[in-house]
Amino acid sequence: MEIIKRLRLQSQLKERPKDETKLGFGDKFTDHMFKMDYYDGAWRQPRIEAYAPLVMSPAAMVLHYSQTIFEGLKCYRHPDDRLALFRPRENFKRFNQSADRLCVPPIDEEFMLKALKELLRVDGHWVPKQPGASLYVRPTIIATEPHLGVRPSKEYLLYIILSPVGAYYKDGFAPIRIYVESFYTRSAPGGLGAVKAGASYASSLLATEKAARIGYTQLLWLDSIEHRYVEEVGSMNMFFVIDQKIITAPLTGTILPGVTRSSVFEVARDLDIEVQEKLLDINEILEAKASGRLSEAFGAGTAVVISPVGTLCYKEKEFTVGDGQVGPITQKLYDELVGLQYGHKKDTRGWIEFVDR
Ligand code: COI
Repeated sequence: MEIIKRLRLQSQLKERPKDETKLGFGDKFTDHMFKMDYYDGAWRQPRIEAYAPLVMSPAAMVLHYSQTIFEGLKCYRHPDDRLALFRPRENFKRFNQSADRLCVPPIDEEFMLKALKELLRVDGHWVPKQPGASLYVRPTIIATEPHLGVRPSKEYLLYIILSPVGAYYKDGFAPIRIYVESFYTRSAPGGLGAVKAGASYASSLLATEKAARIGYTQLLWLDSIEHRYVEEVGSMNMFFVIDQKIITAPLTGTILPGVTRSSVFEVARDLDIEVQEKLLDINEILEAKASGRLSEAFGAGTAVVISPVGTLCYKEKEFTVGDGQVGPITQKLYDELVGLQYGHKKDTRGWIEFVDR
């Protein structure tokens, strides 16, 4: 399929952020977006157009029944000015897994990568130069058919928008405070937990807001049956360092198979740090804390990359993880991943995909 381009005139281009050290997360967008429609049983009319509001029927099915999925990946500027995507095929593979779960028609993963590269050729000058900043890529599919009966839509819009971003959490790479949620849950077996569905994020808002009001950056979700096995944070997968071993929840269908999560596994193994996937009871974490064996905790995700956790609160009791600072394992993983992403370390695993310009 040929990608049609209808670009803005030079005089219509937006002003780019002047100070890249002040970029927040997800509040600025580039000049163009990629779009493609699905109707009559096929994806059609791939195109790159001006970034602009969408027009749709108030009866569009996404607005009523939340039939929408998304992805998140990042594009980095390397020291030689080349634009580098980090493991983009993994994201498009997961996009299709999400599509399958939400009855959305599948996409051609290689075509999506081609479309993204084409968009980056148009808006690549928006990829920040500042260390710690990058261009966040948000592919999204929404159900657009105007229809009020509950069934899968027959029409969809797929779009990709680009956002120059800094750190996800306002303090950057600094220990965050996490509230362990023991009442609300994120996902039940058979639910949406393993895919990137907008609905999962909507259902996480209330509990997250309650925790934010009492001073916590994020929630750590527990399993929905016994309310004791740690799952994930929502914006990242969680890892605990106990007895110098990294422990994280297994992919049992209720947590997201993070691309950064799987990258952490490989990088850790190459650094001779043991990683174990197992059901981890919150009480086991408390015991490890009490006996001095819990040295670090961190989250990993595309938006956050690696985020150290300094404080946990469970059942109204707050405790410090390790000495509350960034631990050595967390720091090593961060340095290794960020080094690869920004082109300061050699990519021996074939994770970087360059955008030829
Ligand atoms: C990401 O890490 O890309 C995410 O999708 C998490 C969040 C920003 C929704």
